[in-house]
Amino acid sequence: MDILAATTNAKPQYGVILTNPVLPLETAPHTQLEIGFGNGEYTVQYAEAHPDVMFYGVEISQACVLKCARRAAGLKNLRILNADARYMLRELFADESLEHIIMQFPCPWSSNKQAHRRVTAKDFADGLAAVLKIGGEFEMLTDDEPYSLEVREVLGKHQALALTKYEVNPEREITTKYERKWLEEGKNIYRLVFAKTQAFSVGRRIAQEMHIKIRHEVTAQEIEALRNVEGKKNGGLAFWKFGRCFSDGESYLLETLTSDEEFGQKFYIHIANRDEGALIRLDQTADAFLTPAVRAALDDAAHRLYEGR
Ligand SMILES: C[S@@+](CC[C@H](N)C(=O)[O-])C[C@H]1O[C@@H](n2cnc3c(N)ncnc32)[C@H](O)[C@@H]1O
Repeated sequence: MDILAATTNAKPQYGVILTNPVLPLETAPHTQLEIGFGNGEYTVQYAEAHPDVMFYGVEISQACVLKCARRAAGLKNLRILNADARYMLRELFADESLEHIIMQFPCPWSSNKQAHRRVTAKDFADGLAAVLKIGGEFEMLTDDEPYSLEVREVLGKHQALALTKYEVNPEREITTKYERKWLEEGKNIYRLVFAKTQAFSVGRRIAQEMHIKIRHEVTAQEIEALRNVEGKKNGGLAFWKFGRCFSDGESYLLETLTSDEEFGQKFYIHIANRDEGALIRLDQTADAFLTPAVRAALDDAAHRLYEGR
């Protein structure tokens, strides 16, 4: 969109949506993040009001990403990503790279079965603690009092986080759609702020590149035989399944589905015969991250194609 605008002088119709970015993401001295921005109203107003801040928005819903991108047309300091923040937070950002993270009216995931999805789940809390700068803040708003108390209790006990504010019905310059809805219904709004107090780090699960070479060429029939083959690893936390195979006569694209701890991706594995062997890698147009399940799928495809002989 930016290139088109530069050559035609047309006003851009969308803001910047990042697809298949190099990780960790680029940051500036003042970099902030909003998780689950919904229709993007707050996101765009906040980024407009803070041109010195590099502002990222991560949202799991594609429809919301598009809504926000339309509002953000022409805005240079906002970058929007379609991703599951629970899994991706620690992968997207390096340690100590963000000065502020805001999450407004997340779903409280009330049942015990859904506890792993909450902000209080250990993995997510560790991710927050890692990517914040020391002194940086995590701010959360909710209309659900029991949830606010759970977050206060659990994040407050994290070794690298300390509660600095717990407010009821705070005055806010910019409000969100859900906030106005809850206030109109006469509900209270709870605001919690935690500061990062000490260095903290977590391991990352995503690799940057992976190419596998096998020592003989492969045929379309051998790749097609992988259809519906599935596998799992890490006690079922990583799962993959192969689908259809497409070919342009020179190389092949193998449709693949993966899931890492419920983080789902769909992409193509690119297979090309070269130098009396075959090269297997993630297709470059695939908007997929090299998670453990994706790496296992590449490995599995390569092993099956190699050993199928
Ligand atoms: C109740 S809405 C609130 C939207 C907005 N913050 C507001 O206050 O109007 C919760 C939002 O979080 C998003 N969301 C839920 N789980 C998410 C996840 N794991 N990663 C990123 N966004 C998520 C949903 O798609 C939805 O847009």
